[in-house]
Formats: sequence, structure tokens, C-alpha cells
Amino acid sequence: MKIIDVWNPKGGQGKSMITINLAAAAVELGKKPLVICQDPQGTSTLYFKGGNLPFDVVSSIPKVKPDADIIIFDHQAADWEVPEGGYLVMPFKPARDQYATYIDAYKRASKLDRKILTIVTDVNHHRKDEIEVTEAMKDRGAFVIPSSGVFGRAATEYRTIFDDALNRAYKIKSRRREFLQVMNHILVEVK
Ligand SMILES: Nc1ncnc2c1ncn2[C@@H]1O[C@H](COP(=O)(O)OP(=O)(O)OP(=O)(O)O)[C@@H](O)[C@H]1O
Ligand SMILES: [Mg+2]
Repeated sequence: MKIIDVWNPKGGQGKSMITINLAAAAVELGKKPLVICQDPQGTSTLYFKGGNLPFDVVSSIPKVKPDADIIIFDHQAADWEVPEGGYLVMPFKPARDQYATYIDAYKRASKLDRKILTIVTDVNHHRKDEIEVTEAMKDRGAFVIPSSGVFGRAATEYRTIFDDALNRAYKIKSRRREFLQVMNHILVEVK
């Protein structure tokens, strides 16, 4: 069973958005994911209550081994400890006032020799400073999810971007391709 921790102690960096859509990408790739929502605010649990997700979301670690081949933990903001055991997926937004916490958390996780995949998300392609940060991170192996209205729409409808109801959304094919690329990468990397 593959274990993935979506983690960044800073709030609002895209952890829940990445969790939900990565799980949906896993389903597209024929896998059976389970999301464990570690956040009392429960963004991923909220999505699940919407009734449109093709996978389960639970709010605590199951007592018996779940029928799943990938477990994705959606961590909460201010969760400062480097999560144990799983492959780390660290989303962050490249706006100047946002990424200091990511850098600190990344350094602490690297010191523990953890495998880390960074996803730069909500990149505004009209901002030179954000593009510079993003390019530098790409050179270091990060994946990129641009700023896109489809995530807001998907969130209000409690859907993933792979939901058929979003088939006609603007640039939906690109967003789906990006998530499939990230999930494929994870499937190769995580033993
Ligand atoms: N690529 C993107 N384009 C547009 N909006 C985005 C993008 N990524 C994230 N967002 C938006 O940013 C907001 C925060 O995202 P999300 O809730 O996933 O962050 P989080 O890290 O889980 O926050 P918290 O720490 O509070 O749990 C949401 O409204 C989400 O839709
Ligand atoms: Mg969240």
C-alpha cells in the first residue's frame, strides 16, 4: 500500500485541492485510493459529503486495513511536525508572502532524508516574480499547477476536476493532464 502525505504547515496552499484531485487521478489510472482527512475543518470530508467523489474520505485512521492501494493524508494547517512514514507531497503558492513556511518545512523534511515532491500551485502567469520562483522550482524537479478557475468551481460543487460535469470547463484537459502526470510520477516513485 502506498502512503502519501500532502503537507505544508501554512494554510491555504492547496493541500486539500491537491489531495482530492490526486485521488481522482489515481482512480483514472485504475487505482483504489482512500483519503484520510487530518483536518478538523475537514475540507476533504466536505467534498465527500457532496456525494460526487469516486473514492472514500474518512476522518481518522481506519482500525482495520482498508481496501485501498493508495492512502492519501490531507494534513491540516499548523501541522508543524514532518509526517512520518509516507511520501511527502508539498504544495505551495509562489506569491512572495506565501512560501517562507514551505522553505522551512522542506529543509526540516530533507534533513530527515525524506522523499519530497513539490507542487507549485496557483501560479499567476502574469506575474514575473511568481514565474521566476516557479521556473527555479521546476529546475529542482517540482510539478506545476497554474492558477485556474476550475478549482474554485470544482470546490463549490464538491467535485474533482475529473468529474464529467466539468468536461467543458476552460482548459480542463490541461489541468487533468497535469494531475495525471503527478500521479504517474508518484506511482513510479513510491514503492
Ligand atoms: N491552482 C489553483 N488555482 C486556483 N485556485 C487554487 C489553486 N490551488 C488552490 N486554489 C484555491 O486556494 C484555496 C486554498 O486551497 P486548499 O483549501 O486546498 O488549501 P489548504 O492548503 O488545504 O488549506 P488549509 O491549510 O486551510 O487546509 C482554495 O480556495 C483553492 O480552491
Ligand atoms: Mg485543507
